[in-house]
Amino acid sequence: MPANWLPVHKKIRDEINKSEDFLIYGGAGSSKTWTILKIVFVRAMLWPGSRHICLRQRFEHVKTTLWPSAKELMNAEWPGLWDQCETNRSGGSWSIRINDSEILFGGLDDKERVEKHLGAEYATVYINEASEIQDESAVNLISSRLRQNIPGRHLLLVDENPPSKKHWSYKRYILDEVQGRGCFKINPIDVKENLPESYIRRLESLPDRLRQRFLHGEFTVDVEGALWSWDMLEGIKTDLDDFRRVVVGVDPAVTSNADSDETGIVVIGQTSDDQAHVIADYSGRYKPSEWAQKVADAYDMHYADAVVAEVNQGGDLVESNLKNHHVGMNVKQVRATRGKHIRAEPVASLYEQNKVTHARGLDDLEGQMLEWVPGVGPSPDRVDALVWGLTELLVHRSPQIHFGIA
Ligand SMILES: Nc1ncnc2c1ncn2[C@@H]1O[C@H](COP(=O)(O)OP(=O)(O)O)[C@@H](O)[C@H]1O
Ligand SMILES: [Mg+2]
Repeated sequence: MPANWLPVHKKIRDEINKSEDFLIYGGAGSSKTWTILKIVFVRAMLWPGSRHICLRQRFEHVKTTLWPSAKELMNAEWPGLWDQCETNRSGGSWSIRINDSEILFGGLDDKERVEKHLGAEYATVYINEASEIQDESAVNLISSRLRQNIPGRHLLLVDENPPSKKHWSYKRYILDEVQGRGCFKINPIDVKENLPESYIRRLESLPDRLRQRFLHGEFTVDVEGALWSWDMLEGIKTDLDDFRRVVVGVDPAVTSNADSDETGIVVIGQTSDDQAHVIADYSGRYKPSEWAQKVADAYDMHYADAVVAEVNQGGDLVESNLKNHHVGMNVKQVRATRGKHIRAEPVASLYEQNKVTHARGLDDLEGQMLEWVPGVGPSPDRVDALVWGLTELLVHRSPQIHFGIA
């Protein structure tokens, strides 16, 4: 399908033409990345021999997201061109040559590589998903290399799904007024012609806080007193599938009428380097036989080693209900004896130490994490299941078997 540029994209271009340091921010899927990539490609074609660099925090994300977007955009805009260009995908940064110009794609997480990038001069620097970059100085450093001799303006282009108002990008682009710096907000609704209708509906059904950010493209503010902040959940989305141990945390609902609690069912894996990865969330409103079946399915699908189930209400019935649906299930009963938040605090601190990552699509869980204020309301069921699972894996570690001489 050919790319379809709307009046809003022309507005963005006009704004960028007045700037040398520009942020496009807004909701997810609002064409921020395509808009900037197109500008980068056009500049590369315009000035033969020019150099441009596109960076994101993690090189892994460059490979799985930014590079494929570049290819997709080029195929939509200039069909056939990508295949004619020389591409290089070896080593710690990838590149494409077009009209004798070079466009590099790299990550900021490889120090040596960054040093190497800093040794060159560029016409354009593009920082993709700046929300994931904690330290503004990394951006300033690479921008200082915007000094290749070109017959036009140098340009720093940045995009992001707006993070917390505490993030450097809020001050840099929204609060501070600096000559030559500009920003533009664009949301999915502004480009709805280019998006499937179901996509906008899905964003509309997100939990409150996530909807503000991903649909309305607003910088976020943390809930006062909440254990988890936006910062703690920023940049932790990844795909992992190799685990040393997998547990299913379960917080069963006691009753099963329409307005009863949800049963929290959260699957978590432990990697060989002692990180935890939240793999899936199957929580929902279920009757007892339904949640037992969900847990059994999750147990098999994720090759779990154990189910960690809260049995405060229900006692042994919880375990027997689970075993009725899966005879061989290894169930560990846990009882909440202390306040919920006393158990949740060490788990929140695992996030602070960057020991936990999340799969994509855990919106309801993350919404509950951001909203729960200990002591104000009851802890949400998904969070309870998460806390049980992470406590089992990383807080109260079961004794490990060591081989060799102690
Ligand atoms: N100008 C366009 N014409 C047609 N489709 C577009 C256009 N811009 C973006 N898209 C579509 O929208 C998707 C999301 O765009 P992207 O730039 O990755 O959004 P964002 O960076 O804002 O999350 C793209 O994968 C593409 O399918
Ligand atoms: Mg993007």
